[in-house]
Parts: sequence; structure tokens; C-alpha cells
Amino acid sequence: MDNYILNYPNNKLIKNQTSSILSNSDSLKFHQSLKGYNKSQLHELPELSKVLNISNLLVKDESSRFGLNAFKALGASYAVSQILKKKPNVSAFCTATDGNHGRALAWSAELYKKKCIVFVPKDTSDLRIEAISNHGAKVEKLNLNYEDTCKHALEMSLKMNWELVQDASWINYELIPAYIMSGYLTHLSEMEDTINRLNKPNFDIVFLQCGVGSWAASCIWYYLNRYGKNRPKIIIVEPVESSGVFESFKKGKRISPDGSLKTIMAGLNCGIPSKSAWSIIKNGCDGFMKITDNEVMSSMRLFHKPLKKDSKIISGESGAAGLAGLIKCLNDKEAEGLNKHIGLDENSRVLVFNTEGDTDARSFQEIIKN
Ligand SMILES: Cc1ncc(COP(=O)(O)O)c(C=O)c1O
Repeated sequence: MDNYILNYPNNKLIKNQTSSILSNSDSLKFHQSLKGYNKSQLHELPELSKVLNISNLLVKDESSRFGLNAFKALGASYAVSQILKKKPNVSAFCTATDGNHGRALAWSAELYKKKCIVFVPKDTSDLRIEAISNHGAKVEKLNLNYEDTCKHALEMSLKMNWELVQDASWINYELIPAYIMSGYLTHLSEMEDTINRLNKPNFDIVFLQCGVGSWAASCIWYYLNRYGKNRPKIIIVEPVESSGVFESFKKGKRISPDGSLKTIMAGLNCGIPSKSAWSIIKNGCDGFMKITDNEVMSSMRLFHKPLKKDSKIISGESGAAGLAGLIKCLNDKEAEGLNKHIGLDENSRVLVFNTEGDTDARSFQEIIKN
């Protein structure tokens, strides 16, 4: 089984529109101005670090961001605010989503009293749909996969003159995804007074879970821009059945995943990687890996049942993927090459992000009761 790929990146940041928007981001200031803003917590889990035999495990926990249980609110809200500066008369916002981004866009549209239309693919759970419509958005479930749902949202937006706020980019659609990525920078800036304070980060390795790759790319952009050659080692984690970035890297060009697209990691169950994210990821990460649903479920339980004085963390299916990636590397003989490549050993200080809480509470309860 090839679950791991090593990358030898050139660590170059290409100068383009996306990069210039990221450089000029004032997302932290913007988010701080919103009602309900709180910096998300950065936990240290000393007991779990001991069990895993690493020096330190840090978790940036997005499970209660703006009361929406996922980091996604950072991207959509910043994008909406930027769009409205230029086009205050937007009639409606539209997107395709497998859950969190749609909820985030609906919440953001509600903030500005704008209409919102959200298309969801066929496997989207009722609870995820309800969470989106609770913010006043019109939600339509299509009998399509994620990628085709995105195409539908694009066609409808063009036809109806709605503003498409998609968290993935393609040729001639890069500006709004760049605003979204720029919004994600907030949670990295939030660590400027802790682990991101010095000219070398206070950790060695970070595991980033990946759907279309926009979030991982904004993290990588941040680390490259902030630290250059002192950046941490970076590993991209995807579900076995939906690993578009892994497969694109193997092919040498962006392609859609060829797995079954059956995974509980709804937020990572995407199609072809985002155009602007792809170039940043391949130029700035050290490896790619795949994890299974079972592996992520164990990590959700580990977060939920802390050891001794470690903090309890509510982590959803996509949220726990970074931790699952770390644990798989530590336990799998096949990962030895990758571990050596990134220096993962008993001295490592590792950062993972819990990107969502129990965004599907029913499924979460089922998983943690076992
Ligand atoms: C909880 C969660 N984590 C990670 C991701 C991955 O983000 P991206 O699609 O930008 O790669 C998503 C995407 O929806 C998500 O919902």
C-alpha cells in the first residue's frame, strides 16, 4: 500500500494575485471586530505526548470558533466582507459545500443581511443541512458528488447573478478563494504570541488535513512567508478514499481523486485540488499521506477521553485527521522513510489542528461511545 510520499519542495512562493492578497491580509483585525470573536485555544497534551513518545503535542482547537464548531467561519466571513467593500449591492451569495463552508457562508451572509443559497452533495447529513439553514440560507441537496455540486453552484450563480463564494479556485476564479485563504490566516496570526513568536517556530512538525487544499495552502504560505528555511516540516493528510492532492502529486498535475469518495471525513471529501492551493502545497510541504476512517475515529476518541490532566477536546471526523496522521506515522513501519525525512522521533514537538468539533453531533456520539 502506498500511503506515503516524500516531497523535496523548492520552498518558493510564487508572486501572483493570491500571494499578494495573503501578504496584505488584515483578517485578524477584521475577525477581532466581529461579535463573538475569541481566540481559539492552543492546548498542550503532555500525557498523550508521553504515550506517543514525542517531546510535545500541541493542538490548535477550532471546535468553538464563532459558535460554528469549525475554522471555516474565518474564510467565508473575511471573503464576504472583502466582496461587499467592492460590491455592496450583491443580491445573494452562493456556494457548494459538504458542510462547514456552507454553514460559514450562511452565517456570514446573515451578518450582512444578505441572501444565501447553498448546494450540498448527495451524502450530506441532515444535521449538516439543518446547521446551514439555521442561518437563513436556502439549502438544496443534489444527487451529485462534491465536484459536480460545485459545477452546479457555478452555473446557477452565473445564471442568477449571485456571488459565488467557493473555497476552491480554478482558471479565472482565484480572487474569492484567495480572500478565503487570507481569512484562514487569522488562526496562524493568533499564535504570534506563543509558538509563532520567534524567527523559528516553537515546534518542529505540523500535520495538515486537506480537502481541496485551500486551508493547508494558507498555512504553508504562512510558514514559508514567516520563517523561510526555518519553517516547520509539513505533512499533508487526506482520507484514503478521497486523496486528490496525494494523487495529483503522484501524477505531476492536478487530478480528481479516483477513490470511492466514501469517507466519514466529510470536510476532506472533495474533488480536484484548488488551483491556487496546489502550487503552494507542492512547493512547500515535505510529504503526503493517507489515513482511514478507522484511524480517524480512534483519534476522535483519544481527544475525547483525555489521559490524566490533558485537556478534553471535542473533535469531529475531519478535525481529528491531523492527529490520526501523526499517530499513523508513529506506529506504521511503512512510515519509517517519511519519519526520517521529517525528523519525527522522541524529540519532536508536533502541532496538529482540530479543525472542527462535533459538526455532526449524531455521528460524533456514535463514534465516541465505542
Ligand atoms: C473540518 C475541516 N477540516 C479541514 C478542511 C479542509 O479544508 P480545505 O478544503 O481547504 O482543504 C475542511 C474543509 O471543508 C473542513 O471542513
